[in-house]
Amino acid sequence: MCGIVGYVGTDRSLEVLLGGLKRLEYRGYDSAGVAIIDDNGDLHTAKRAGKLSVLTDDLKVNPIGNGSTGIGHTRWATHGGPTDRNAHPHLGDDGRLAVIHNGIIENFAALKDELLAEGFAFTSETDTEVAAVLLGREYRATGSLQDAFRLVVSRLEGAFTLLALHQDEPGVVVGARRNSPLVIGLGEGENFLGSDVAAFVEHTRNAVAIGQDQIVTITPDSVTVTDFDGERVEVEPFEVAWDASASEKGGWSSFMAKEISEEPDAVANTMRARHHDGQVVIPELEALGDDVLAGIDRITIIACGTAAYAGQVGSYAIEQWARVPVQVELSHEFRYRDPVITPKTLVISISQSGETMDTLMAVKFAREAGATVISVCNTQGATIPRESDAVIYTHAGPEVAVASTKAFVAQITALYLFGLHLARVRGTLSVPEQARQLDELAAIPAKLSKVLESHDSIAQLAKWMADTRAVLFLGRHVGFPIAMEGALKLKELAYIHAEGFAAGELKHGPIALIEPGQPVFVVVPSPRGSDEMHKKVVSNIQEIRARGARVIAIAEQGDAAVLPFADEVIPIPLAAPLFEPLLAVIPLQIFAMELSSAKGLDVDQPRNLAKSVTVE
Ligand code: F6R
Repeated sequence: MCGIVGYVGTDRSLEVLLGGLKRLEYRGYDSAGVAIIDDNGDLHTAKRAGKLSVLTDDLKVNPIGNGSTGIGHTRWATHGGPTDRNAHPHLGDDGRLAVIHNGIIENFAALKDELLAEGFAFTSETDTEVAAVLLGREYRATGSLQDAFRLVVSRLEGAFTLLALHQDEPGVVVGARRNSPLVIGLGEGENFLGSDVAAFVEHTRNAVAIGQDQIVTITPDSVTVTDFDGERVEVEPFEVAWDASASEKGGWSSFMAKEISEEPDAVANTMRARHHDGQVVIPELEALGDDVLAGIDRITIIACGTAAYAGQVGSYAIEQWARVPVQVELSHEFRYRDPVITPKTLVISISQSGETMDTLMAVKFAREAGATVISVCNTQGATIPRESDAVIYTHAGPEVAVASTKAFVAQITALYLFGLHLARVRGTLSVPEQARQLDELAAIPAKLSKVLESHDSIAQLAKWMADTRAVLFLGRHVGFPIAMEGALKLKELAYIHAEGFAAGELKHGPIALIEPGQPVFVVVPSPRGSDEMHKKVVSNIQEIRARGARVIAIAEQGDAAVLPFADEVIPIPLAAPLFEPLLAVIPLQIFAMELSSAKGLDVDQPRNLAKSVTVE
């Protein structure tokens, strides 16, 4: 949460900062602000509550000039409400330095008391201002931004990415990170810092990931990374795999619409170079060694939100193919109980951003307890892959809309691939069967394109239902997590109360919710996959229909058994049962997006949310 940009270079800092913040706005959009040092060496700040556009409009009326050094911030409020005063940057007590921050400084109250006792005053309710005032005090003591900054970050507890500049040291921005993201962009005669590469990819694709508890100092011609004791550390440069256009809206009405349209590519790209001759070989797992995978006796998948539903879908396939017990847990629940973890436990973390604090902490916890951790991640240079034993990158490309869509199908694809890889290593699936499953998966991108053709009719349905107050979603087996994902999408995008249930659970309580006219989406399994399961779901449809529900079925093209009982049928192409979720989720994503648009809401930036949840 919170997006951070830093720049040193030529006389265009404001333009670079605002461009970077635009690309990072998905990380938080409660308020935004910038600080620059102009050519006369004067520090100027501007900050406003509201979306970035409020700040940019304000800067047109009240310009702060330009300059070659600056920092910028887009906020998701933690300490203190989203007001102008609480927006970042925060100044030191003498107004000569500025600080921006992502994360939570857990010992801020003790530090604040210390500073208050010394007579310092505060103008905001934030933890960040405490760091700024502390930095001012240390700067006066040391006369060096780098030294003062090191003293400050060494005293902070919690999670933070902190950037600072001082008007007595133009051409320098310092940054530090602990459990919160920060990457460096390397330019020519200019350098960048950002919460992720989107902040600077329009200027350079040469990036460097910064490790835990490290400090970076950038000038136009140099980049220095040290630990908190000031010792130089080795850095890992990498090239950003996508260019700036990948994170632009193009001609689409929203990022979400664009990202849904990219789902066939997300699946195809995630499969690429990971199979040969009918078998899956994931090169990134080679370093781990087949003996480790052959020796595991259980798998725990940890993730949050949509990523956890991807995990749940994947768990069915992995268990079925590799014959290992798989359980799925929300990262924050996993970490705070006392799970049984042994050296034979494999933990798979799933995270689009690679920065979700709940998942990061669960990964660290699992590794400390002796588990092997593989992460499934969509973001190069992110923290979770760095904390894991191995990483399977999903190649969905940058996902900007806050609600996850293409990353979800890419995550499921990565888990299918992992399941087939594991089945090969453990010898639990015959070679022809591995090839058959792989062929089925390879056919999915074309089928996804077919599902996308239903967009207009789903949009029409969403318009008709714009006044709906509650929607239920039902599914069985792999359709169950899809029902929950459909409900989550509707809640977060259209602010409509929605619940997803296992269809078999209906009569154990939720059926009491059914009254005449209640819309219920039902994910219907293929009759060819399991006739028994299909019949059960059709019976469930009849049960709710008998009580007046309005049934919208997502069913295989030509499924005649559903037609007499459904008010609407959204057809999906035939697919092997385990792969149906990839197809069935698309209509639910489109429906939620279109209902949100029909209500005039912001599809890409729903209220109260942020894309990257870097606080617990
Ligand atoms: C919902 C959504 C969230 C994320 C969750 C985990 O549309 O996007 O539920 O899936 O916050 O985020 P990552 O995958 O970045 O760890």
